[in-house]
Amino acid sequence: MKISNDILYVGVNDHKVDLFEGQYKVPNGMCYNSYLILDEKVAVMDTVDQRFTHEWLDNLESALAGRQPDYLIVQHMEPDHSANIDSFLRTYPNAIVVATTKAFAMMDNFFGSDLVRNRRAAENGGTLELGRHTLTFVFAPMVHWPEVMVTYDSADKVLFSADAFGKFGALDRPEPWDDEARRYYIGIVGKYGAQAMNLLKKAAGLDIATICPLHGPVLDKDLGHYIKLYQTWASYSVETEGVVIAYTSVYGHTRKAVELLADKLRQGGCPKIVAHDLARTDMSLAVSDAFRYGKLVLATTTYNADIYPFMREFIDHLTERNFQGRTVAFMENGSWAPMAYKIMKEKLSSCKNLTFAENVVRIKSAISEANKEEITALAQELCKDYQALSSETANKNDMTALFKIGYGLYVVTSNDGKKDNGLIVNTVAQVTSQPNRIAVTINKMNYSHHVIEQTGVMNLNILSEEAPFSVFENFGFQSGRTADKFAGEELTRTDNGLVMLRKYVNAVMSLKVIQYIDLGTHGMFICDVTEARVISNAPSMTYAFYHAHVKPKPATEGKKGFVCKICGYVYEGETLPDDFICPLCKHGAADFEPIQ
Ligand code: FEO
Repeated sequence: MKISNDILYVGVNDHKVDLFEGQYKVPNGMCYNSYLILDEKVAVMDTVDQRFTHEWLDNLESALAGRQPDYLIVQHMEPDHSANIDSFLRTYPNAIVVATTKAFAMMDNFFGSDLVRNRRAAENGGTLELGRHTLTFVFAPMVHWPEVMVTYDSADKVLFSADAFGKFGALDRPEPWDDEARRYYIGIVGKYGAQAMNLLKKAAGLDIATICPLHGPVLDKDLGHYIKLYQTWASYSVETEGVVIAYTSVYGHTRKAVELLADKLRQGGCPKIVAHDLARTDMSLAVSDAFRYGKLVLATTTYNADIYPFMREFIDHLTERNFQGRTVAFMENGSWAPMAYKIMKEKLSSCKNLTFAENVVRIKSAISEANKEEITALAQELCKDYQALSSETANKNDMTALFKIGYGLYVVTSNDGKKDNGLIVNTVAQVTSQPNRIAVTINKMNYSHHVIEQTGVMNLNILSEEAPFSVFENFGFQSGRTADKFAGEELTRTDNGLVMLRKYVNAVMSLKVIQYIDLGTHGMFICDVTEARVISNAPSMTYAFYHAHVKPKPATEGKKGFVCKICGYVYEGETLPDDFICPLCKHGAADFEPIQ
């Protein structure tokens, strides 16, 4: 087979292999690619598996048409490509072997140090002149062994990519590339995403017309498709939206739960649902699907005070390969002392950026009515984003979207002429930079609004993450009309005479109001900055940080009604009036949520 006028394919197909690398099923066989470059000098790119010595040497002899190879370029020392270095050198003893220093060390280990007499160590970025063709070597450690390099031929714009861009399957069994290339990549190189990304970055600087991998077909059309898939896999990004359910079931109860979940997901608009019975499926396919799709449900039984063996093996395959950046949900089954949920979650604890579903399905032997509700809730949780992204199913009036706006938290200080006052606000934004102008919006119910409207000045104290809950209680949950929020405090003042906080702030700005905008319930003060001090480099307190780390959990146990998301005040009752104002923090009904 000709790749270009000077480059010929001399590899072999393998239909005898039962398990590639001793573990991967390859129903369509395997191929071990090798290439010949005919120029003023002649170079052979890699050898093949040990069982194909004579077939490969025959291919080579025929393609050489009487010429002798000057170089054997060894890009990768895994035996599926290197096993015939010795037979090659017995046939062509004058050839020079070109490889990385690490590859030569492995060659000596595999064949003894006497075998390779003529050796040339490749440099990273170094070149080899063949005549019209100049080969440039690019080291690609851990794609898939540490000694790997790839080779670029600038004359014909060919990248010899070693294991990268390979796939399972022999060349005489054409099949779609993506699925078997994914199973190959995730199974064999999946752990080394960072290293594969490095190679892709280096390849991005090359003008490539053809990719010649060591497995699978030569790629010479639509290279963008293959490179994009490799970028997706190497960066652990989601390739396809959908849910994979990986499960084991001993007596069929867990399977029933899986089937019910699949039905609910389908009804919920999940774009793709794939279920793998881990005792029966091809494990490498289940693993590659877990990396392909955005969400994974793990369903298994407690077994010998652990989890079912196939699930344990499956999770080990994920963690070994740096599984990350996915949503994971759990369904456990246990007739006594259930532990599966806890163990599955612990086994994934080393994975980065996993989001665990809030709803967990806990089956005790067989599915109960409560389990059916749990399954429905889990399906709703997993389908929420799919529904929101669809014009047909989206709730287009979901005002909880407002809660997703990022806010900081501040203490605005002012003085009514008799005493200092301070108020927690989150509605602060810089609105222009030339000049620097800040907008501060305050609820008219707050005494500070009245004071600042009268005086036209305030200090903006930017809270840091060090601020304890007592700061929010003091400045947020009582009115300055009746309380002295600075009683007993040592006071420091800025040049405008207003107090500034001495603790728990990273910066303070003095503001002078230049414009007031009446917003109905609130007033917006547009202000010039008259003074600005940085106190520390501690991170600013955000609304999200406050909720996650500062605010105590509200005492909602056993209560029915609504809880204020700002301060935790609990309103007990069937319905919350639309005009309800939190008596503690003065936030409105929109900041309440039902007690679950
Ligand atoms: Fe195809 Fe890593 O060997």
